[in-house]
Amino acid sequence: AIAGGILSTVQITAHRGSSKEAPENTMAAIKQAVADLSDYAEIDVQETKDGVVVLGHDSTLRRVAGVNRTIGSYTFEELQALDVGGWFSEDFKEEKIPTLEEVMEYCKGKINLNIEIKGAGDDSLLPEKVALLIDKYQMAEQCVVTSSRFTYLSRIKKLDEKIRTGYIVSAAYGNYYSSDDIDLISLQSSFVTERLVEAAHQKGKAVHAWTVNSKSEMERMKMLSVDNIITDYPVLAREIIYREEA
Ligand code: G3P
Ligand code: MG
Repeated sequence: AIAGGILSTVQITAHRGSSKEAPENTMAAIKQAVADLSDYAEIDVQETKDGVVVLGHDSTLRRVAGVNRTIGSYTFEELQALDVGGWFSEDFKEEKIPTLEEVMEYCKGKINLNIEIKGAGDDSLLPEKVALLIDKYQMAEQCVVTSSRFTYLSRIKKLDEKIRTGYIVSAAYGNYYSSDDIDLISLQSSFVTERLVEAAHQKGKAVHAWTVNSKSEMERMKMLSVDNIITDYPVLAREIIYREEA
Protein backbone atom coordinates (compact mmCIF):
# COMPACT_ATOMS: atom_id res chain seq x y z
CA ALA A 1 0.00 0.00 0.00
CA ILE A 2 1.13 3.53 -0.65
CA ALA A 3 0.53 5.80 2.29
CA GLY A 4 1.49 9.43 1.84
CA GLY A 5 3.88 8.54 -0.96
CA ILE A 6 5.89 6.21 1.26
CA LEU A 7 5.81 2.52 0.53
CA SER A 8 4.18 0.92 3.56
CA THR A 9 3.76 -2.77 4.16
CA VAL A 10 1.28 -4.71 6.19
CA GLN A 11 2.96 -6.04 9.31
CA ILE A 12 2.62 -9.64 10.43
CA THR A 13 1.85 -10.94 13.90
CA ALA A 14 2.38 -14.58 14.84
CA HIS A 15 -0.77 -15.47 16.81
CA ARG A 16 0.12 -16.96 20.25
CA GLY A 17 3.60 -17.21 18.71
CA SER A 18 4.00 -19.32 15.57
CA SER A 19 1.31 -21.61 16.88
CA LYS A 20 1.04 -24.08 14.01
CA GLU A 21 4.75 -24.90 14.25
CA ALA A 22 5.11 -24.97 18.03
CA PRO A 23 2.74 -25.06 21.02
CA GLU A 24 0.95 -21.72 21.54
CA ASN A 25 2.13 -19.24 24.18
CA THR A 26 5.45 -21.01 24.85
CA MET A 27 9.05 -19.87 24.38
CA ALA A 28 9.28 -22.37 21.49
CA ALA A 29 6.41 -20.63 19.66
CA ILE A 30 7.97 -17.21 20.25
CA LYS A 31 11.39 -18.36 19.02
CA GLN A 32 9.65 -19.77 15.94
CA ALA A 33 7.93 -16.40 15.37
CA VAL A 34 11.38 -14.77 15.35
CA ALA A 35 12.70 -17.45 12.95
CA ASP A 36 9.66 -16.85 10.73
CA LEU A 37 10.58 -13.14 10.56
CA SER A 38 7.27 -12.04 12.06
CA ASP A 39 7.05 -8.38 13.00
CA TYR A 40 5.16 -9.21 16.20
CA ALA A 41 4.41 -12.17 18.42
CA GLU A 42 0.96 -12.03 20.01
CA ILE A 43 0.71 -13.58 23.47
CA ASP A 44 -2.09 -13.89 26.03
CA VAL A 45 -1.33 -13.14 29.65
CA GLN A 46 -2.94 -14.12 32.93
CA GLU A 47 -1.93 -14.07 36.59
CA THR A 48 -0.96 -16.94 38.88
CA LYS A 49 -2.34 -17.32 42.41
CA ASP A 50 0.80 -15.62 43.74
CA GLY A 51 0.59 -12.73 41.28
CA VAL A 52 3.11 -13.71 38.58
CA VAL A 53 2.20 -12.67 35.02
CA VAL A 54 2.40 -15.73 32.77
CA LEU A 55 1.31 -16.79 29.29
CA GLY A 56 -1.90 -18.69 28.65
CA HIS A 57 -5.01 -18.35 26.53
CA ASP A 58 -7.85 -20.46 27.88
CA SER A 59 -9.76 -20.06 31.11
CA THR A 60 -8.52 -23.51 32.16
CA LEU A 61 -5.38 -25.57 31.49
CA ARG A 62 -7.37 -28.55 30.21
CA ARG A 63 -6.45 -28.22 26.53
CA VAL A 64 -2.71 -27.55 26.91
CA ALA A 65 -1.86 -29.44 30.11
CA GLY A 66 -4.76 -31.85 30.67
CA VAL A 67 -5.80 -30.34 34.01
CA ASN A 68 -9.17 -28.77 34.52
CA ARG A 69 -7.98 -25.87 36.66
CA THR A 70 -7.34 -22.20 36.02
CA ILE A 71 -3.88 -20.61 35.90
CA GLY A 72 -5.02 -18.42 38.78
CA SER A 73 -5.51 -21.45 41.01
CA TYR A 74 -1.80 -22.37 40.84
CA THR A 75 1.24 -20.69 42.31
CA PHE A 76 4.00 -20.03 39.80
CA GLU A 77 6.13 -22.77 41.31
CA GLU A 78 3.31 -25.30 41.02
CA LEU A 79 2.77 -24.33 37.39
CA GLN A 80 6.34 -25.22 36.55
CA ALA A 81 5.51 -28.91 37.02
CA LEU A 82 3.11 -28.79 34.05
CA ASP A 83 4.06 -29.77 30.51
CA VAL A 84 2.29 -27.43 28.06
CA GLY A 85 3.99 -28.72 24.90
CA GLY A 86 3.37 -32.47 24.87
CA TRP A 87 -0.26 -32.04 23.72
CA PHE A 88 1.13 -30.48 20.54
CA SER A 89 3.85 -33.01 19.84
CA GLU A 90 6.40 -35.21 21.62
CA ASP A 91 9.15 -32.82 20.51
CA PHE A 92 7.82 -30.11 22.81
CA LYS A 93 7.06 -32.00 25.99
CA GLU A 94 9.67 -30.04 27.92
CA GLU A 95 7.85 -26.73 27.37
CA LYS A 96 6.80 -24.90 30.53
CA ILE A 97 4.47 -21.95 30.95
CA PRO A 98 6.72 -18.91 30.53
CA THR A 99 6.50 -15.69 32.51
CA LEU A 100 5.89 -12.42 30.66
CA GLU A 101 9.19 -11.20 32.08
CA GLU A 102 11.18 -14.05 30.56
CA VAL A 103 9.45 -13.51 27.21
CA MET A 104 10.31 -9.81 27.30
CA GLU A 105 13.92 -10.51 28.14
CA TYR A 106 14.15 -12.80 25.14
CA CYS A 107 12.22 -10.54 22.73
CA LYS A 108 13.92 -7.24 23.49
CA GLY A 109 15.59 -6.06 20.28
CA LYS A 110 14.36 -9.15 18.38
CA ILE A 111 10.61 -8.97 17.84
CA ASN A 112 7.69 -6.74 18.81
CA LEU A 113 5.09 -8.02 21.23
CA ASN A 114 1.32 -7.79 21.22
CA ILE A 115 0.50 -8.50 24.85
CA GLU A 116 -3.15 -9.41 25.18
CA ILE A 117 -4.46 -9.08 28.71
CA LYS A 118 -7.17 -11.63 29.23
CA GLY A 119 -10.08 -10.41 31.33
CA ALA A 120 -9.82 -11.38 34.96
CA GLY A 121 -12.20 -8.83 36.47
CA ASP A 122 -11.88 -5.16 37.37
CA ASP A 123 -9.98 -5.83 40.58
CA SER A 124 -7.13 -7.56 38.72
CA LEU A 125 -3.83 -5.67 38.78
CA LEU A 126 -2.72 -7.22 35.48
CA PRO A 127 -2.70 -3.91 33.54
CA GLU A 128 -0.50 -2.28 36.17
CA LYS A 129 1.86 -5.28 36.26
CA VAL A 130 2.16 -5.37 32.48
CA ALA A 131 2.87 -1.62 32.30
CA LEU A 132 5.50 -1.95 35.01
CA LEU A 133 7.30 -4.72 33.10
CA ILE A 134 7.22 -2.74 29.84
CA ASP A 135 8.77 0.19 31.67
CA LYS A 136 11.31 -2.01 33.46
CA TYR A 137 12.55 -3.41 30.14
CA GLN A 138 12.09 -0.07 28.34
CA MET A 139 10.07 -1.80 25.67
CA ALA A 140 7.27 0.74 25.08
CA GLU A 141 8.29 1.12 21.45
CA GLN A 142 8.39 -2.61 20.95
CA CYS A 143 5.07 -3.49 22.57
CA VAL A 144 1.38 -2.98 22.12
CA VAL A 145 -0.98 -3.92 24.92
CA THR A 146 -4.34 -5.23 23.74
CA SER A 147 -7.49 -6.30 25.52
CA SER A 148 -11.18 -6.72 25.00
CA ARG A 149 -11.59 -4.87 28.31
CA PHE A 150 -11.52 -1.19 27.59
CA THR A 151 -10.91 -0.24 31.22
CA TYR A 152 -7.61 -2.17 31.21
CA LEU A 153 -6.38 -0.04 28.31
CA SER A 154 -7.40 3.21 30.01
CA ARG A 155 -5.45 2.11 33.07
CA ILE A 156 -2.37 1.36 30.95
CA LYS A 157 -2.56 4.82 29.35
CA LYS A 158 -2.94 6.46 32.74
CA LEU A 159 0.29 4.81 33.90
CA ASP A 160 2.32 5.49 30.78
CA GLU A 161 0.85 7.23 27.75
CA LYS A 162 3.80 6.08 25.64
CA ILE A 163 2.56 2.49 25.77
CA ARG A 164 0.43 1.79 22.70
CA THR A 165 -2.92 0.15 23.32
CA GLY A 166 -5.28 -1.82 21.12
CA TYR A 167 -8.95 -2.53 21.70
CA ILE A 168 -9.97 -6.04 20.67
CA VAL A 169 -13.43 -6.11 19.19
CA SER A 170 -15.28 -8.79 17.29
CA ALA A 171 -17.80 -6.44 15.72
CA ALA A 172 -17.46 -3.04 14.15
CA TYR A 173 -19.68 -0.71 16.13
CA GLY A 174 -19.33 1.70 19.01
CA ASN A 175 -17.59 5.04 19.38
CA TYR A 176 -14.19 3.75 20.46
CA TYR A 177 -12.57 5.21 17.34
CA SER A 178 -12.37 8.58 18.99
CA SER A 179 -10.93 7.52 22.32
CA ASP A 180 -7.49 8.81 23.28
CA ASP A 181 -7.03 5.66 25.33
CA ILE A 182 -6.51 3.47 22.28
CA ASP A 183 -4.03 3.61 19.42
CA LEU A 184 -5.32 0.72 17.39
CA ILE A 185 -8.33 -1.45 16.82
CA SER A 186 -7.85 -5.20 16.77
CA LEU A 187 -10.74 -6.57 14.80
CA GLN A 188 -11.96 -10.00 13.78
CA SER A 189 -11.06 -10.07 10.11
CA SER A 190 -14.52 -10.91 8.76
CA PHE A 191 -15.71 -7.48 9.99
CA VAL A 192 -12.94 -5.55 8.24
CA THR A 193 -14.24 -3.42 5.37
CA GLU A 194 -12.78 -0.61 3.31
CA ARG A 195 -15.01 1.91 5.06
CA LEU A 196 -13.95 0.73 8.45
CA VAL A 197 -10.22 0.89 7.67
CA GLU A 198 -10.67 4.39 6.27
CA ALA A 199 -12.68 5.53 9.28
CA ALA A 200 -10.05 4.18 11.67
CA HIS A 201 -7.17 5.71 9.73
CA GLN A 202 -8.95 9.05 9.63
CA LYS A 203 -9.02 9.01 13.41
CA GLY A 204 -5.35 8.07 13.48
CA LYS A 205 -5.98 4.50 14.63
CA ALA A 206 -4.24 1.49 13.10
CA VAL A 207 -6.22 -1.66 12.25
CA HIS A 208 -5.00 -5.12 13.21
CA ALA A 209 -7.03 -8.08 11.90
CA TRP A 210 -7.34 -11.55 13.48
CA THR A 211 -7.09 -14.47 13.03
CA VAL A 212 -6.27 -14.47 9.35
CA ASN A 213 -5.39 -18.01 8.30
CA SER A 214 -6.58 -18.49 4.73
CA LYS A 215 -4.73 -17.24 1.69
CA SER A 216 -7.84 -15.52 0.35
CA GLU A 217 -8.47 -13.65 3.62
CA MET A 218 -4.80 -12.60 3.73
CA GLU A 219 -5.16 -11.24 0.21
CA ARG A 220 -8.34 -9.41 1.18
CA MET A 221 -6.62 -7.83 4.21
CA LYS A 222 -3.71 -6.76 2.04
CA MET A 223 -6.07 -5.18 -0.48
CA LEU A 224 -7.90 -3.31 2.28
CA SER A 225 -4.59 -1.92 3.63
CA VAL A 226 -4.95 -3.14 7.17
CA ASP A 227 -1.86 -2.34 9.21
CA ASN A 228 -1.28 -5.74 10.73
CA ILE A 229 -2.38 -9.31 10.06
CA ILE A 230 -2.53 -11.60 13.08
CA THR A 231 -2.12 -15.17 11.87
CA ASP A 232 -1.18 -18.72 12.85
CA TYR A 233 0.72 -18.89 9.51
CA PRO A 234 3.22 -16.00 9.45
CA VAL A 235 5.33 -17.58 6.69
CA LEU A 236 2.37 -17.80 4.31
CA ALA A 237 1.32 -14.25 5.25
CA ARG A 238 4.81 -13.03 4.42
CA GLU A 239 4.69 -14.66 1.00
CA ILE A 240 1.42 -12.92 0.24
CA ILE A 241 2.30 -9.52 1.69
CA TYR A 242 5.65 -9.29 -0.07
CA ARG A 243 4.43 -10.75 -3.34
CA GLU A 244 4.80 -8.32 -6.22
CA GLU A 245 1.45 -7.67 -7.85
CA ALA A 246 1.50 -8.12 -11.63
O1 G3P B 1 -5.13 -10.61 19.60
C1 G3P B 1 -6.33 -11.01 19.03
C2 G3P B 1 -6.66 -12.45 19.17
O2 G3P B 1 -5.64 -13.13 19.81
C3 G3P B 1 -7.94 -12.60 19.90
O3 G3P B 1 -8.32 -13.90 19.96
O4 G3P B 1 -8.98 -15.68 21.47
O5 G3P B 1 -6.90 -15.91 20.13
O6 G3P B 1 -6.96 -14.36 22.05
P1 G3P B 1 -7.75 -15.00 20.95
MG1 MG C 1 -5.03 -13.47 21.95
